[in-house]
Amino acid sequence: MSEEPISPIPHKRRVRYGGKNPRRFEEKYKEQRGDAATIAKVIASGKTPIGTHRPIMVAEILEVLAPKAGDIAVDCTLGYGGHAQELLARIAPGGKLLGLDADPLQLPKTEVRLRALGFDETVFTAHRSNFAGLPQVLAAQNISGADLILADLGVSSMQIDDPARGFSVKHDGPLDMRMNPQRSQPAAALLQKIKPPALAEMLADFSDEPQAATLAPALAGKSFATTRELGDAIRAALPRLGKDESDLTVRRVFQALRIAVNDEFSALETLLRNLPACLKPGGRVAVLTFHSGEDRRVKKAFEAGLRDGLYADIAREVMRPTAEERNSNSRSAPAKLRWARRAD
Ligand SMILES: C[S@@+](CC[C@H](N)C(=O)[O-])C[C@H]1O[C@@H](n2cnc3c(N)ncnc32)[C@H](O)[C@@H]1O
Repeated sequence: MSEEPISPIPHKRRVRYGGKNPRRFEEKYKEQRGDAATIAKVIASGKTPIGTHRPIMVAEILEVLAPKAGDIAVDCTLGYGGHAQELLARIAPGGKLLGLDADPLQLPKTEVRLRALGFDETVFTAHRSNFAGLPQVLAAQNISGADLILADLGVSSMQIDDPARGFSVKHDGPLDMRMNPQRSQPAAALLQKIKPPALAEMLADFSDEPQAATLAPALAGKSFATTRELGDAIRAALPRLGKDESDLTVRRVFQALRIAVNDEFSALETLLRNLPACLKPGGRVAVLTFHSGEDRRVKKAFEAGLRDGLYADIAREVMRPTAEERNSNSRSAPAKLRWARRAD
């Protein structure tokens, strides 16, 4: 039998970068292929290596969730599995962790990663689900309640750093921003369809944008193919702002759009409503938030649950990352942690 001729593997040129350090995603090939020395250097500089995520406030979360052998745990936002990995190590033997994530691209990678660390189907299952559907995920697994539940809101570093996902103005890419690219509409389509008054309301409600009234007519109904085009249009609409202020404005507009595209507040409100019924009596929940719109909702829901007797105790003060963590991981800076314990 004759064999197919083997075609030579085409030589792929490495992307060259100017300066000492790579800046663009495609230049960071050493990080992407897991070069240990490069990864250590990136972490030492307070940054996150491409394709990974550094879990935030791990010690504080472990303290408030107090995982122990045999516990049923839920990680509503599995991401890279950094928190999940720590919880899994503490609920053995006999415990089980359900990891949920809306992202169909990252979830299988994290499942492979956690399996390679030795967590098989008996201790860890991965579920491609919005956390708004947590009661259904638990019911399908015949679980009546969890001992501990964690939600670490927002997007992962893998999502922010990948230009193809379109989350960040720092990396030019299609203006998408969907955590689940198989659902709903990309940010570009949303902007093209929305009317100025609705956009002004969205910018004010979702990111407290002070320039919402000026920005809305400049952006609504327009067609922006890429993150960079949108960033440029935001800056052009506010020519008198200084660099720092306009960078902040761009970040707030991107945040508001991301919240809208992924319907983040209604998913969070549904989760907060369902939480007491998803916990066993005495079960604990911890929620890590990254902006005031999220923290406000968590605080209000926990206070209402305490008043109504659903929770026996809640965090009286918000917990923040230590100065040391903020210095060693700049992405931890805005984090706020709250917890609640279900009544017996
Ligand atoms: C900040 S990351 C979590 C990182 C994770 N704790 C770790 O240690 O790697 C947030 C993750 O939650 C997911 N996510 C955000 N909103 C979600 C929702 N409503 N339902 C399910 N997953 C969601 C995102 O896709 C992302 O992977």
